[in-house]
Amino acid sequence: MSILKNKNILLGITAGIAAYKSANLVRLFIKAGANVKVVMTPASKDFVTPLTLSTLSKNPVYSSFVDDDDDSHVWNNHVDLGLWGDYFVIAPATANTMAKMANGVCDNILLATYLSSKCPVYFAPAMDLDMYKHQSTKESFRKLTSFGNKLIPAGTGELASGLVGEGRMAEPEDIVSFIEKDILDQLPLRGQRVLITAGPTYEALDPVRFIGNHSSGKMGFEIAKAASNLGAEVVLVTGPTHEKITHNFVTVKPVVSAEEMYNEVHLHFKASDIAILSAAVADYRPMNVANQKIKKKDSTFTIELEKTKDILKSLGEIKTHQYLVGFALETNNELEHAKGKLVSKNLDLIVLNSLQDKGAGFGVSTNKVTFITSSNTIIENELKSKSEVAKDLMQLILKQNHA
Ligand code: CTP
Repeated sequence: MSILKNKNILLGITAGIAAYKSANLVRLFIKAGANVKVVMTPASKDFVTPLTLSTLSKNPVYSSFVDDDDDSHVWNNHVDLGLWGDYFVIAPATANTMAKMANGVCDNILLATYLSSKCPVYFAPAMDLDMYKHQSTKESFRKLTSFGNKLIPAGTGELASGLVGEGRMAEPEDIVSFIEKDILDQLPLRGQRVLITAGPTYEALDPVRFIGNHSSGKMGFEIAKAASNLGAEVVLVTGPTHEKITHNFVTVKPVVSAEEMYNEVHLHFKASDIAILSAAVADYRPMNVANQKIKKKDSTFTIELEKTKDILKSLGEIKTHQYLVGFALETNNELEHAKGKLVSKNLDLIVLNSLQDKGAGFGVSTNKVTFITSSNTIIENELKSKSEVAKDLMQLILKQNHA
């Protein structure tokens, strides 16, 4: 999944021959899952038609301040357009447009949108080699990058003039990769490894029966999403669940029993920076697992249970640099019990769920939690979707971990 999924991309097109490649650029952004709106300089319409671009982007294309095709002469609001974009990509960016951008000239809708936008701006220059090398162009690059705009360097090759050299607009695929990498590099958890447990565990009684619980795994999966959206590489160790996740940065490790979860977690813990254990692990398992299906005989049946290993506690005992987060599901004396677990399991943070709160706990998509840190900061939260809770949790970890 691309980091551009569901992002709003404003694509600015100026009058260079490379504008014909912009149609492909729209396609690639759409394929990456982005929403695209195109804004063009009037002269660029000689190189690529608005009809092509509106068809590919599935949105109207803007090239003048007033919609001339409309008898009511509707004003195209460049301010709204500028604010709509999460990213503004100007490709191709001609010497003329760059010089205007560098000097605040605003004589077309693309430039007005540029001046109105607050989002990151990328520009991909395209021109002939002597223009590219010219001191004036270099001055435009210098000024534009000093404003925080990002230059996607032109490539070297055969140019429309027949000359060979620098000035060819970067290929659309390279423009998309450049932007994706740039966004990823700025994510706060880029380069961090996060280990997460989720779901229930099933403890076998015989080949067909087990002792389990009602955990859906939703909370852990939402945490995996939130962490990976912040750029982390996530290992998600999950018990049996119907939840699904597809994200380039998430590796799912399915397990069934507490013992399997323990082993899998220990395989990854040392290399992790953050570990968040949200699984509802069975505290006990049958002492003996029958090889064959157990037949009914007597009117009562007793199962002897033994304790499983406490995964969270075992990590608290060996942690070095890792930031360790546990969950506590309590029904009474909640704060006291949660604080007790925070200390006894050597945690940095504990997330308290109280089953007394309506909408919190198993199977539902909402949760009401209290965060308690090892420095005794207590943050009570409203009832929220599990996705919001996961985002809040990751923000708090970021704050604590990088304080
Ligand atoms: N946990 C774990 N391994 C276990 C049991 C629990 O890693 N064998 C983790 C859970 O993932 C959770 C935390 O420990 O993060 C708290 O689990 P909970 O069942 O609420 O607490 P327990 O320590 O098991 O204590 P009790 O059941 O007595 O409340």
